[in-house]
Amino acid sequence: MSSPTTVRTRVAIIGAGPAGLLLSHLLAESGIESIVIDQRTREDIEHTIRAGILEQGTVELLDGLGEHSRARTVGQRHDGIELRFEGEGHRIDFADLVGRGVWLYPQHEVLKDLIAARLAGGQDLRFEVTADHVEGETTDRPSVHATTADGEQLIIEADFVVGADGSRSVAREVVSGRRTGHFREYPFAWFGILCDAPPSADELIYSNSPDGFALISQRSPDVQRMYFQCDPDVDPNSFSEEQLWDELQVRVPGHELKRGPIFQRDVLRFRSFVASELRKGRVALVGDAAHTVPPTGAKGMNLAAADVSVLHKALRSLLLENDESGVDAYAETALKRIWKGQQFSYWMTSMLHVAPTADDFDRLRQRGELRTVVESRAGQTYLAEAYTGWPLA
Ligand code: PHB
Repeated sequence: MSSPTTVRTRVAIIGAGPAGLLLSHLLAESGIESIVIDQRTREDIEHTIRAGILEQGTVELLDGLGEHSRARTVGQRHDGIELRFEGEGHRIDFADLVGRGVWLYPQHEVLKDLIAARLAGGQDLRFEVTADHVEGETTDRPSVHATTADGEQLIIEADFVVGADGSRSVAREVVSGRRTGHFREYPFAWFGILCDAPPSADELIYSNSPDGFALISQRSPDVQRMYFQCDPDVDPNSFSEEQLWDELQVRVPGHELKRGPIFQRDVLRFRSFVASELRKGRVALVGDAAHTVPPTGAKGMNLAAADVSVLHKALRSLLLENDESGVDAYAETALKRIWKGQQFSYWMTSMLHVAPTADDFDRLRQRGELRTVVESRAGQTYLAEAYTGWPLA
């Protein structure tokens, strides 16, 4: 085997997802050089279907990409959602309640924008490079040891290493141990479909029904995204298209769905997770490497962006002014918002889904909970504040 190639940079970022790419952008704006690696191909990153809601603060961060951000032009602003139960819809009017909105703009489109902007900015961005392990976290020369697509060994020496490498993070091993943290599993999953059909509604519908939860989302005037609650072990190919439409429709009673050919289906298992530590010495975790939320609150990518906005400022102080206080405070600051996001995602999930073990008490209490929200301006305001996103640090 040939000897490893060693390269040097200020910040080594593992993972070219939203968190890693946004961080490299903000660092570059502050004049701090970084290298970003990802084990996937660019094609894979730009085409993996993920969720689609951006908080207003996330869109504002992406505005920094200038013409490269299409969130406001291709994405659609939504000023509310519908909460549906007992066959009736109740609009939560974000604009009226909190004067803020969200944007429906899928994550893979955000990634195309970020990659285009970073490459135009001369970013050292390397695809198909797999991080094997991180070393030197308690020194001022931490390093990432990686393997390229050709099997060459690559060592990236840096002043700081950031694990933006998702739920199977390699960086997490040195920060908090791969499997240590706080978990919650859920006894259900989402069956997601993409179909060629006109929109069934102008805004997202989050629907609770005796048969379980459904989410009616959109992608464009001719492509729609919808999900329904299912068993986590279901085989996605065990349903005919007609059965899928019937499963969806029964969970949205009183609102007729517009059907069309289904061209993609997937089962999303979900859980809640927060790593026990977010930083050790000169290695920090951001985004899914640090935490996971169930998709019901649409918080995943937004929490990642919020982590990055905190860490970027901390790294600027460390690397430009030799001031360690921001890095020392990173975990505590980020965790405050992460746990608010965990609470909101858990709450939306438990309020809207039907647990397999639910009895009459659980179902009737759940309706009481939904009424508490829709019949009170205070209840609606909490939902609106959390959904559109708390102010960024
Ligand atoms: C989506 O459109 O994929 C989507 C929207 C809202 C969610 C989850 C997923 O809460």
